[in-house]
Amino acid sequence: MLIHWDKRRTLIILPEAQLISFVAMQFFHICKQAINERKKACIALSGGSTPKELYEYLAKASSKEDIDWNLVHLFWADERAVPQSHPDNNYKMSMEAGLSHLPIPKANIHPMQADTDIESHAKAYDNLLKATCGEGLDLILLGIGEDGHTASLFPNTKAINIENCWAAANEVPQKQTYRMTLTFPCINKARNIIILVKGSSKAEIVKELFSLDDEKYPASYVGTLQSKALFALDEKAASLLIEGLKKQK
Ligand code: 6PG
Repeated sequence: MLIHWDKRRTLIILPEAQLISFVAMQFFHICKQAINERKKACIALSGGSTPKELYEYLAKASSKEDIDWNLVHLFWADERAVPQSHPDNNYKMSMEAGLSHLPIPKANIHPMQADTDIESHAKAYDNLLKATCGEGLDLILLGIGEDGHTASLFPNTKAINIENCWAAANEVPQKQTYRMTLTFPCINKARNIIILVKGSSKAEIVKELFSLDDEKYPASYVGTLQSKALFALDEKAASLLIEGLKKQK
């Protein structure tokens, strides 16, 4: 089911078994398109548990795709304040889930370093993104938390309001930690924005994100007229939203 929700956001709702392959095909298509147009593909990926399945799928399916992986650059949407060896590290999860099997040159893989000197590393990441990705990312793959955060833009945190930098250190009192995160100027400048949401645990926040009083959720601000966000949901994550739409009829 495809829903053009508003001028900023489109939803595609798929059976659970089709969601990951759909997003993987979008990933490959966007890489090919960017390489054809600009001889480079700049992709930013999220952590957490949802995309792990996608990274596993990409690793297995990539050999069938005619992509010059030497022209692909991987970035991260956010990173926890832990070393790359820590089990909570998004880069570690992503690479171990399968991205290390993609034949992308190591020099093109750009993990965030958020465990030390996070402010200076965030400034360096901002500079790296702008120097590498020119006008913006070709794709940013996001998730959403049950509190409506995306990347590490948590409700009521300062990085939500940043208007110039593309990457920032963000104090997250809710988690008593700092995170490095891409910011809305970076996210909403991406040529393609995909928010991957799976499972019944996200059904309530999905319903909230597409309700009238959604302004308190950072994930509500993803997507613009110039760069529409594609919410790729499975039926479980969309269940309460669909239920509400049916009641309105
Ligand atoms: C992180 C992610 C974060 C994630 C959401 C959803 O560092 O945790 O980047 O933004 O996308 O928290 O996480 P799940 O996929 O685990 O539900």
